[in-house]
Amino acid sequence: MDQNQAKQAAAEAALKYLVPGEVIGVGTGSTVNFFIDALAAHRDDIAGAVSSSNASTERLKKVGIPVVELNDAGELSIYVDGADESDPHLRLIKGGGGALTREKIVAAASRQFICIADESKLVPVLGTFPLPVEVIPMARSYVARELVKLGGQPKLREGFVSDNGGLILDVAGLSITDPRSLETAIGMLAGVISVGLFAHRGADVLLLGGPNGVRELTA
Ligand code: 5RP
Repeated sequence: MDQNQAKQAAAEAALKYLVPGEVIGVGTGSTVNFFIDALAAHRDDIAGAVSSSNASTERLKKVGIPVVELNDAGELSIYVDGADESDPHLRLIKGGGGALTREKIVAAASRQFICIADESKLVPVLGTFPLPVEVIPMARSYVARELVKLGGQPKLREGFVSDNGGLILDVAGLSITDPRSLETAIGMLAGVISVGLFAHRGADVLLLGGPNGVRELTA
């Protein structure tokens, strides 16, 4: 089984969490693309989807799933999204695709967060994957200096502007032993739109695809 097959297996395993008649949240990335494709066959079972990015919105519409504004949807039953890393407590690094801010909002508005990934994403301690931090453009240098004080090595994601007009600093060199505190500390820096640490609101369920099938971890 290659990495794409593992992602597809995890994505398809998330279908069992669908709540008939409800609006669901849908994340962003290659694993979520497999989920959207699998969801197409179940489009009549759900009331629609709130999307976390323009890319997912387009894909949802293409397969005939109605896209609903979060402001019109109320609380969502489930949110299905991928991750760049998860620790064993289902605290995540996200934002490799640059959609972290909207992902964080949709995750916060959902009762249950189902994370889908191949098993390479499970790590003992977060931080090997550079932590994405989205910033207001004028705050880029200031925030970068503050991230250095926190022990990181920030690098501007060249040529990238988020769906919200933000820039992304990818922060290497962090060994994140206390994800909640770091999420709070970075989130409080002036000019930070959001940090790709999902620790205060991590996943509730992690579906990990691998050669032996799909493993399910719960927080
Ligand atoms: C996008 C994300 C994605 O969930 C994350 O990058 C994982 O992507 P993929 O499923 O392609 O491995 O956080 O902002």
